[in-house]
Amino acid sequence: MSRPKVFITRPLPTQAVERIATRCDVKMHPADEPLQLAQLVEACREVEGLVASGTRVSAEVLDRAPRLRVIANVGVGYDNIDVAACTHRGIVVTNTPDVVTEATADLAFALLMAVARRVVEGDRYVRQGQWRHWQWGLLWGTDLHGKTLGLYGFGRIGQAVARRARGFSLRIVYHSTERATEALELELGAQFVDRETMLRQADFLSLHVPLTPATHHLIGARELAMMKPTAFLINTARGSVVDEAALVEALRSKRIAGAGLDVFEHEPNIHPALLTHPNVVLTPHVGTATSETRLAMALLAAENLLAALEGRRPPNHVNPEVLD
Ligand code: 8YV
Repeated sequence: MSRPKVFITRPLPTQAVERIATRCDVKMHPADEPLQLAQLVEACREVEGLVASGTRVSAEVLDRAPRLRVIANVGVGYDNIDVAACTHRGIVVTNTPDVVTEATADLAFALLMAVARRVVEGDRYVRQGQWRHWQWGLLWGTDLHGKTLGLYGFGRIGQAVARRARGFSLRIVYHSTERATEALELELGAQFVDRETMLRQADFLSLHVPLTPATHHLIGARELAMMKPTAFLINTARGSVVDEAALVEALRSKRIAGAGLDVFEHEPNIHPALLTHPNVVLTPHVGTATSETRLAMALLAAENLLAALEGRRPPNHVNPEVLD
């Protein structure tokens, strides 16, 4: 029997590639950069499996990939894939939840601490040779303990951020489409509140929702206007959850105090005004970028891919209709 053909859209860890290669004929894009649409179409023409990492897969690609049976996305968020079009064509889509949780929560917390204690401003100040003598009034930030953290979204990553926040004596309020169990709320010291209460009370608001039509611009001018002028917005979810133009305006008019952002509406393009605010810390979509987590993601994607290709139920899948 012939081995299934698989295309991998970026160089992934050798261990994961070798695992796939035990059962499949593998081709991998050799450069860690996005493929042009035409390149992706060409690469997918004859494959049964696609491992997509930071790659947009549209219906246009699927139309020209008649043999495709599974797309293994390397990431928990799968807004880059036209899942409805996949389901329509009977293509299984898988993702990599769980393994991304702790690293993403770490980065959310790193951004929170960076904006609270002005870490990046301090680094710039020292590097630029501006530090001539110790000053009482230099780079005052804000305490964490006793402040309120608002978690918008309380799934795996939101909960992992809550666990960290407990250790820093933050009060935790959250809002989510689904309320957690009482036991979990008790364990994490997190209180469920309505959206407006969360927006009004949060000293730090951290976003942990997937990007869907319902969460597009979840934070816009109206929501920003409800926040405290001393509050900080942290986004490690998806850029389009925030109306970036409204955020820029809120920062300009000092409606909020600052932001820690790992994701952007039109990444890698960033609203130029964001670059000018010293109270904004920016990172280039690196929430899961640790060696341990990226390896775990690649290995899980490999397992998902192989299971689907072999007719087994993948450990993670997002369109069960295709399997059932
Ligand atoms: C990836 C992510 O970097 O897991 C996610 O949803 O955002 C990241 O881990 C991204 O999916 C690109 O592959």
